[in-house]
Amino acid sequence: MSKVVLENVTKKYNDTVAVQSVSLDINPQELLILVGPSGCGKTTTLRMIAGLEQLSSGNIYIDNKKVNDISPRERNVAMVFQNYALYPHMTVYENLAFSLKMRKVPVNVINDMVTSTAKLLAIEDILGCKPRLLSGGQQQRVALGRAIVRRPNIFLFDEPLSNLDAHLRSKMRTELSRLHTRLATTMIYVTHDQVEAMSMGEQIAVMNHGRIQQLADPITIYEKPANKFVAGFFGNPPINFFEGILTLKNDGLRFKSEDWDFPIPDFKKDTLVPYKDKKVIMGLRPEHITGQDIIKTEYESSQIQAHVEVIEPMGFETLVYFSSGTHDFVVRFESNVNFSVAQVAKLNFCLEKSLFFDAETENIIL
Ligand SMILES: Nc1ncnc2c1ncn2[C@@H]1O[C@H](COP(=O)(O)OP(=O)(O)OP(=O)(O)O)[C@@H](O)[C@H]1O
Ligand SMILES: [Mg+2]
Repeated sequence: MSKVVLENVTKKYNDTVAVQSVSLDINPQELLILVGPSGCGKTTTLRMIAGLEQLSSGNIYIDNKKVNDISPRERNVAMVFQNYALYPHMTVYENLAFSLKMRKVPVNVINDMVTSTAKLLAIEDILGCKPRLLSGGQQQRVALGRAIVRRPNIFLFDEPLSNLDAHLRSKMRTELSRLHTRLATTMIYVTHDQVEAMSMGEQIAVMNHGRIQQLADPITIYEKPANKFVAGFFGNPPINFFEGILTLKNDGLRFKSEDWDFPIPDFKKDTLVPYKDKKVIMGLRPEHITGQDIIKTEYESSQIQAHVEVIEPMGFETLVYFSSGTHDFVVRFESNVNFSVAQVAKLNFCLEKSLFFDAETENIIL
């Protein structure tokens, strides 16, 4: 139940900057999700918190105590890795008991701790089994059990579910969230999967190129991404981006691209006016484009014609990929659609939902 603070933490390996000036406050009992693409510095960040990696600069505090030079053992942190290695020659019970035995915990106490942990993870009936007889999901639970049994103050999870199949992964994800509530322990959970991050996170820290891009709750991340990278990372299918220029015509602001010229809703005007005649990127999520017969918006001239290229029925929704002039984009429809491939469809762009990014910095304007 510890508080963890990272203050301008940087890690360099020769010329590679793996983690750059990361600052984070993780409150006691909080579950923080650290998400980002491969190589962005997630594992390095966790390893520095665990004490397995020296910092190049910056500080890490656990419960207000600077731990830069404190050994992993003294930090009382448990880390679960993607490639959890169980001891193959030991039973599940012995795997769970091992670290307690090494700490010379009395046998009857070990027994109590292993039993209660096994119960928590519903692995009581496999305590006598050797790991090779277990399924991937069971092995993963045992790996979690080994971390839990020590009653650490902080859990660090490094993509612990990535070796499981999709179904089991989503089940374990729910269990981990439940476990977090029950154990009431500070957890940092690393994943590169945006769906996992969205579904588990109270707070999500989005990382790219060694830097934190945004720290916020899932809804804020989705609706108000800090920049183009965050906007594109969350959402499946991803947000559509369109390049264009903002122009002012008859007192109204417009988004002009090679093929389109849309009026921008008035409530966005004040914030966007400083970007008049400048290049911007417009982002519009697939659910914010509709078939013309579905909804008539008050912004009539944000209607376009587009060619249907691919139709993907997903069951509860249908994704349709369109092209219009130089633009390609995807639209999410509720279920059945009346389109057929190669036809021309009329669509509405719900510009009141559009996001705009500075084309140079790629930061959000609004
Ligand atoms: N021991 C090391 N020596 C040199 N470079 C390293 C070392 N460990 C990591 N790096 C580099 O630091 C960067 C961040 O690596 P890290 O493993 O933290 O990324 P990650 O976000 O965990 O990626 P993944 O999702 O693939 O696990 C990468 O460019 C990596 O090549
Ligand atoms: Mg990693």
